[in-house]
Order: sequence, then structure tokens, then C-alpha cells
Amino acid sequence: MSATASKKAPLPEDILARKGKEPIVSLTAYTTPMAQLMDDHCDFVLVGDSVGMVLHGMPSTLGVTMDMMIMHGQAVARGLNRAMMVIDMPFGSYEESREQAFRNAARLMRETGAGAVKLEGGVEMAPTIAFLVARGIPVMAHVGLTPQSINTLGGYKVQGRGEAGDALMADAQAVAEAGAFCVVLEKVPTSLADRVTADIAIPTIGIGAGAGCDGQILVLDDMLGLFTAFKAKFVKRFANLGDDAQSAIADYAAEVRARSFPAAEHSFGDAVPDKSATKTEEKK
Ligand code: KIV
Repeated sequence: MSATASKKAPLPEDILARKGKEPIVSLTAYTTPMAQLMDDHCDFVLVGDSVGMVLHGMPSTLGVTMDMMIMHGQAVARGLNRAMMVIDMPFGSYEESREQAFRNAARLMRETGAGAVKLEGGVEMAPTIAFLVARGIPVMAHVGLTPQSINTLGGYKVQGRGEAGDALMADAQAVAEAGAFCVVLEKVPTSLADRVTADIAIPTIGIGAGAGCDGQILVLDDMLGLFTAFKAKFVKRFANLGDDAQSAIADYAAEVRARSFPAAEHSFGDAVPDKSATKTEEKK
């Protein structure tokens, strides 16, 4: 049996029931230790395809594969006991046909234990969402700035300004009516996000969409200050772990060069350990 993140986790229907209530908290995770750190604090954890940029140094999410998502999904599942795990469908794994989407969504859930998949797109993906939901696959939708489409969106621009607001509203309505249990709104004006949140029946999860959404998500490495290649306006750094890591690495390098690390307490003597010593003592 594969590792499962869903034992005591909220179900998609629990997330749906939070519409208009206490804000839904979510972050991305790609590894077991980080999933463990957020398990008590998040309602759901997204294994985002942002992993390609954040951990693999890719220039966009377009190069992320099914195998990468499965490997990171399995790692995250090992770190979760409480939060629901949602996993991104990577670029090229669902757009071709509803059958292709089902095959790959089922594989992601079967091999990682995720409780739901996320896919990008609005009106054009609504039939696929309905197909998946009717066959037992809970779907989180993602509209507004959809990073897998940066080549047709003209880059990482704010979406839905001016006349484009109507199309974005139609996208959100279409995915809600298709049966998605919530929808990520990325990089859209706050007033539009507020209108979408008021008009659709499913929770909106904002990232760069203002405080009026039903929930929020951020990329973990952005909010921890670990990913510093660039910082979107919507990112708040709640810590600067990248700076801390760099100074720790510089200290380590200096101590190795000065032969002050390792010190005596990090080193082993010649004495044979006492046989009655506990396992912990033997390790010393
Ligand atoms: O891949 C990702 O991390 C995402 C979030 C930004 C919503 O899709």
C-alpha cells in the first residue's frame, strides 16, 4: 500500500464546506521535513509543480514531469498525518483529452496517496474537471495567472484587469459548476477576487488575490525566504532562512579552513565503549 496523507485528513468536501467561514490555510511542500513542519498548521498541503523552479532550478514549471511529481508527492505524504495533500498535474499530463487526464490523475493519487489533484485552466478545462469528478477524482482548479500557460499569457502578468475580468469570472464559474471543490485565484486584482468569491459556490484560495478570498496559499520557499531568485509582490517573507543558511555555510567554511571544526565534542576517542552503555551513549 502506498503511503497516504489522507488518514485523518480533511476531505475535499470539508474544504468545500469552509466556503465563507474560517479562512483555509495552505502552503506548498516538496519534501518530508517541510511537510512535517506544516502538518499541524495547514488545512491542505499542495505538492506544487513550482517544485521545478524552487528545488530543481528550472526557468518555469513547464519542464516538470509526472515522475518528479510522484517522487515529491511520496516524500510529502510521509510527512503528513493531519493535513490533506493535493498534488499538481504537470504541464502536458491532462490537456490532451479527458481520458489522458483521468489516467494521469489516477496515477498521481494511486502512487502518492494524495486526496485530490490540481489542474490549471477555466472554461476550456471544465469538461475535464467534470469527467474526473464523476469518476472519483476530487479536483482543485486554478485560474487567473496559470504558470503553465506563461507562453500564451505573455509572462507572469496580473490577470483579469479591465475587460478581462468578465472572462476570469466565467472561468471561475465554469470550474465551480464542473464540480471543482475549490479554486486557486492567482495574481488577480483584489476587487475582482472579492467579486468571484462572492459569486461562486466553492472556496477561493488566493495567491496574489487579496485578503477577501476564502483561503490563502503561498509557495513555502518564498515565504521562508529560501527562494530568492526573484520575489513576486504578493509574497510576504515570514522568515529569511536563505540568509541564515548562507551565513551558517560561511561560518562552517571558515571553521573548516581554520581547523576549529570539528572540535573535540564532534570527534571520537580510542576508548572501547562499555558494553552496558545504552545505544545513545554508544553513538557518542
Ligand atoms: O505550483 C504551485 O506552487 C502552485 C501554487 C502557486 C498555487 O500552483
